[in-house]
Amino acid sequence: MGSSSAAARLPAAADASRRRDEFTALRNLDAQKAWLVARGIPNPYFPLHEGTAGAHTRIGGHDLINFSSYNYLGLNGDPAVNDAAKAAIDVYGTTVSASRIVSGERPLHRELEQQLAVFTGTEDALTFVSGHGTNVTVISDLVGPGDIVFHDAAIHNSALLGAKLSGAKRVPFSHNKPEKLAGLLERHRPAYRRALILVEGVYSMDGDPCDLPGFVALKRQHEAWLMVDEAHSLGVLGATGRGVREHFGLAADEVDLWMGTLSKAFASCGGFVAGRHSLIETLRYFTPGFMFSVGLPPPAAARALAALYKLTAEPARARLVRARADLFRDLAREHGWSIGLSRDSAIVPLIVGNSEKALRLSAALMAAGINVQPIVYPGVAHRQARLRFFFCCDHTEAEIRQAASAVTDALRQL
Ligand SMILES: Cc1ncc(COP(=O)(O)O)c(C=O)c1O
Repeated sequence: MGSSSAAARLPAAADASRRRDEFTALRNLDAQKAWLVARGIPNPYFPLHEGTAGAHTRIGGHDLINFSSYNYLGLNGDPAVNDAAKAAIDVYGTTVSASRIVSGERPLHRELEQQLAVFTGTEDALTFVSGHGTNVTVISDLVGPGDIVFHDAAIHNSALLGAKLSGAKRVPFSHNKPEKLAGLLERHRPAYRRALILVEGVYSMDGDPCDLPGFVALKRQHEAWLMVDEAHSLGVLGATGRGVREHFGLAADEVDLWMGTLSKAFASCGGFVAGRHSLIETLRYFTPGFMFSVGLPPPAAARALAALYKLTAEPARARLVRARADLFRDLAREHGWSIGLSRDSAIVPLIVGNSEKALRLSAALMAAGINVQPIVYPGVAHRQARLRFFFCCDHTEAEIRQAASAVTDALRQL
């Protein structure tokens, strides 16, 4: 009803063009679905998990070893984390019903932000209801026309959207190459007021950590802000899971803004930024996606907090998840499989060379009791089509070996 009445207000030409676009997208989607059906390949999207997904899951009545969850630390489903969420519901209910600035503030929000600041070694932190939304609203608010954003060519869609929305000039640089960024900074930086460099702690497509020391040196030299998205590095990298700064032994204040999600290692939903108090306080009072949006639901805040306490008490979880991924990387190298740039992280791509092969391999592994999602064109170039393995500290060594041998068998049969 809402959308049809909005459509009724559109000028006729705009409405027609929107509908054409909609139909084009739908036609393309239908063509892709028909392509799958013609080849007898099951549609791999929107798989329906019938329980808590971690190292294991259940899909279509089958128990599977699961390599398609960001539940890196096995904390989604952890009894203490579940209990914390239930207790928060009993006290505060299921929503705070308002933006925190007006009447949505609860003690759990403050405790979570204090603990995130402690964990990340920063002065302050601020949480948002979506990880994706955090990047969009924070980046688009931090910079604007007259500023410049330099971002890794492989940066996540959320950061890219934030940069586009900001109205700042946008300059991508070759993936994880500070030396390429250096030249671009020299050329463009002087003409702009503020400069922001955007990188990720670990890149989700390839599982490679960013060259943080290289980017820190450049941000200092060129008086730029540096923002690091730690969606896939916090909780995983470093001796105690404190992310890419612990991995490289750097101080937290070498980076202006740390960004993280609560949906992955922290078993919840939402995002946060952490950094110096003055910057975080400014975002707290001015960022639209915080000011004009509801605060984290109490059970979500409680889950993230309980997960954070659990990781602090059991830092070995971070080392364990990396050890599991390392074992798979070693096995992949022994077999001569291409794993791209993956190292040190909990993400290992298996690059198979074309989209159809990736889809078929994923389907064959599913039949062998292993859930691993394919990434195909246009998500990546055809030749870069891959399966992406996400590891969990609850995977056993035997399961990693079982997965590798299932890949060997499936590749032989394809
Ligand atoms: C690098 C990166 N940043 C941000 C996000 C968005 O986080 P969320 O899914 O918690 O909204 C993701 C999601 O996968 C991500 O990979």
